[in-house]
Order: sequence, then structure tokens, then C-alpha cells
Amino acid sequence: MSLSGKFNVVLGVTGSIAAYKAAELVRLMTKAGWGVHVVMTTAATNFVTPLTFRTLSQNPVSVDSFAEPDVWLPGHISLADRADVMLVAPCSANMMAKIAYGLADDLLSSTILACKAPLLLAPAMNTGMWENKATQDNLALLKSRGVGIVDAGTGELACGTSGKGRMAEPEEIFAAVAQIAAV
Ligand SMILES: Cc1cc2nc3c(=O)[nH]c(=O)nc-3n(C[C@H](O)[C@H](O)[C@H](O)COP(=O)(O)O)c2cc1C
Repeated sequence: MSLSGKFNVVLGVTGSIAAYKAAELVRLMTKAGWGVHVVMTTAATNFVTPLTFRTLSQNPVSVDSFAEPDVWLPGHISLADRADVMLVAPCSANMMAKIAYGLADDLLSSTILACKAPLLLAPAMNTGMWENKATQDNLALLKSRGVGIVDAGTGELACGTSGKGRMAEPEEIFAAVAQIAAV
């Protein structure tokens, strides 16, 4: 909780077509009165612009680890310290693997590694990526460490196929964060 008493969510957005749904999620969270601080991977900026999230969250959006920070602390540390919840929605197969292995080679993965707040992931990916043993092993590892997963759904996917891997709807993800906020 920040000095102003606001509940703060750091929202990571990764390179998935479901990134557009994160815009609606930001709207739900700001409507609830929460502070929302968005960190995008470079891949995510191909799907939705930082401008969209900056406008909806009314906060600066971070992408680059080495950009000049507005405070003396490195960006990943100040963001990690600010979070009451660290949420990644959509979470790509790549980011899930990086988190599972403790990699920190971009701003989002560095922030996640430095962050002590509860971590919640909403995976989104093509069914082949989802069913791959590597992804399933990473998922099991993350769950065993207490990472919260808002399970992917089954249905039509943006790649034109149908199966498991669809990101949960923004309302469901919002409800999962709200449960943590209520504790
Ligand atoms: C059109 C398109 C859609 C994609 N959708 C997904 C997706 O839903 N889930 C996923 O894991 N990767 C998806 N990818 C691949 C990721 O963007 C790619 O693995 C990227 O390296 C992820 O980077 P990030 O984890 O740093 O955001 C997609 C790629 C393209 C071109």
C-alpha cells in the first residue's frame, strides 16, 4: 500500500494478441481506485502502444530497463517496491519460462525477480505452445512456488484455431486481483 493508501498493481504486458484485453483490465482496475503501473515488453509494443496504457492508467508506462528513471533508483527496483500485486496479463510462454528460470534480461522480468509482492499470471498462447511439455513443466514449477495462475480458457484463438490457451477475460483477472486486495 502506498503512502496515499492506494492499492498498487504493477501490470506486465507481454507480446500476445491478447494484449488488447489488458486495456480493458486497466480500466477496471483504475475504476476500482487502484494505482496501475504498466510495464510492457518490447514485443508487447507491437500489439498495443504505450500511449494506450499511459492514458488509461494515468501513469507513465515503462518498457526500457536503461531509460532515464524519474527517481534515482533503477526502474525495476522502484516498480518492484511499489507493487502490492505483480500481475502479468497476458503472460506469454516466453515470459512464463523466464520467470520459472529466474531470468532477468528485460525490465519486466527484472522487476518480477526483484518483487516481493504476490505474483499472478494470466497466460495466453496458442494451444501448441500451451500443451508443450516445456510450458506445462514451467507452469507446474511456478504453481509449486505459490505463483497465482488465472487459468487460460478454451475456445477460438486469434491464430484461427480452437483449443486451450485463450487468456481469461479481464473481469476474471480483475476478480483474482481483488481477492488479494481484500486480504
Ligand atoms: C501475431 C502474433 C501473436 C502472438 N501471440 C502470442 C501469444 O498469444 N502468446 C505467446 O506466448 N506468444 C505469442 N507470440 C509470440 C511472442 O510475441 C514471442 O514469443 C515474443 O518473443 C514474446 O516476447 P515477450 O515474452 O518478451 O513479450 C505471438 C507472436 C505474433 C507475431
